[in-house]
Amino acid sequence: MSLPPVKVLFDENRIAARNRELASEIAAAGLEQLLVVAVLKGSFIFAADLLRAMHASGLAPEMEFVHLSSYREAQVSSGQVNILRDVESDVRGRDVLLVDDILESGRTLAFAKDLLMARGARRVLVCVLLEKPGKRAVNVDPDYVGFVCPDLFVVGYGMDVAHAFRQLPFIGHIEGLE
Ligand code: IMP
Ligand code: MG
Repeated sequence: MSLPPVKVLFDENRIAARNRELASEIAAAGLEQLLVVAVLKGSFIFAADLLRAMHASGLAPEMEFVHLSSYREAQVSSGQVNILRDVESDVRGRDVLLVDDILESGRTLAFAKDLLMARGARRVLVCVLLEKPGKRAVNVDPDYVGFVCPDLFVVGYGMDVAHAFRQLPFIGHIEGLE
């Protein structure tokens, strides 16, 4: 199978440097009993790198995963969020850092944040690798943003289009695909 060329938007070094900055900001926030919850699938590489950067910043969080889907195989958000796999840990009284790849309409993260707050989390902070401005359909303010993303469909560093390109070590954009 031949894949179309991907134009680099954020390269490996830039991502690694930004992860270190985010980790030190998170470490300065004084979070307690910290549980990191990565939203699968798109955040898995970012979450893994951020977790190791958090270790380097002196943090020892626990790690959990929730698999949510709103996208299917289309590039357009369907509006409805489904839980495909839930977190296992009890979040009551804990500080939670939700980690996702992209904040776009905000539906995925608003859903996840409401869910964890309803289960009794003390605080739920939101960390996204990318924020696409001007696309919000619901109100959710990220606490930590890796990069502001141009209004393009991006892939790589865990993010896909129709299951492809997650393996790329950088964040890129397929030319011709908005
Ligand atoms: P939201 O619920 O509209 O904020 O959807 C955000 C989710 O849509 C992200 O977690 C991604 O899974 C997906 N998504 C949005 N834009 C892109 C993109 O450019 N490339 C890949 N996935 C995207
Ligand atoms: Mg996602």
